Amino acid sequence: MKLLMMARNPLLYSHQRLVEAALARGHTIDIIDTLQVYMNIATHNPQIKYKGQNLEFYDAIIPRIGASVTMYGLAVLRQLEMMGMWTLNESVAIGRSRDKLRSLQLLARRGIGLPITAFSHSTLYTDDMIKMVGGAPVVIKLLEGTQGLGVVLGETLAAARSVIDAFREVNVNILVQEYIKEADATDIRCLIVGGKVVASMKRKGPPGDFRSNLHRGGTANKEKITPEERSVAVRSAHIMGLNVCGVDMLRTSHGPVVMEVNSSPGLEGIEKATGIDVATKIIEYIETHATPYQTKTRGKG
Ligand SMILES: Nc1ncnc2c1ncn2[C@@H]1O[C@H](COP(=O)(O)OP(=O)(O)OP(=O)(O)O)[C@@H](O)[C@H]1O
Ligand SMILES: [Mg+2]
Repeated sequence: MKLLMMARNPLLYSHQRLVEAALARGHTIDIIDTLQVYMNIATHNPQIKYKGQNLEFYDAIIPRIGASVTMYGLAVLRQLEMMGMWTLNESVAIGRSRDKLRSLQLLARRGIGLPITAFSHSTLYTDDMIKMVGGAPVVIKLLEGTQGLGVVLGETLAAARSVIDAFREVNVNILVQEYIKEADATDIRCLIVGGKVVASMKRKGPPGDFRSNLHRGGTANKEKITPEERSVAVRSAHIMGLNVCGVDMLRTSHGPVVMEVNSSPGLEGIEKATGIDVATKIIEYIETHATPYQTKTRGKG
């Protein structure tokens, strides 16, 4: 097959692994820097160009769109979809997953367990918002944060209040969440490919940190998940409409709650912790599922 990966940095572990796996299975794979693509939007014959050349037709697209280039990346992907190319994750699904509030609302509507989460735009009623999630301690998160940056534990009402007020002062969007103490600085990442959990790991924060992010010094180990966790992970991926994703969950005394569904999950942590060749599983999924000109969400917002 002729594959195309949209990725800004071809040297990232995940991207290199996908290239390796694709070549090993006899495919060709080109990488384009998403931001270097340009296009025209036309009723007939929309064009998409890269480095002065019309982009050829590919059998499948592997979109790896970084959070910082979501808007442009999704525009490029929509254009490819409009031209009939099949994509591993569709633009609409990636768009859903990038909007944290929208994702949580979608998951909640379908009965997925979530940490109780509050958000507001106004600077008034901070105390009431803290009360809505069950009172301190609470977790305060920057809506645009990643890798654990901008995730703060407000241990007391006074601490939570001052963090929320400080964030608001600099005009950033935040959400306030019930603190799941039983999770014990640990979260579970399930890697989903084609509606199945193909690998799962437990991440644990460094001593003294409640955040389990590997970028913050956390450690990762292979973890066997419960049937309930498996079902929640698979359902979450399905609700978001993502064929490939990472579902992050916290273990609570009343079962798993989903924190996030990531549409471009990193492969390094999970492959190294589990020894599972996730990249090959992704390529195999593409082989059996790529159907050009059949993208269901073609043209949809
Ligand atoms: N409500 C919570 N209760 C307990 N621990 C939490 C809670 N929310 C987050 N954490 C811990 O903090 C870590 C970072 O939080 P989160 O994953 O929401 O933010 P992020 O990693 O910065 O963003 P993203 O995952 O969207 O890139 C989690 O992996 C988890 O260990
Ligand atoms: Mg996270």
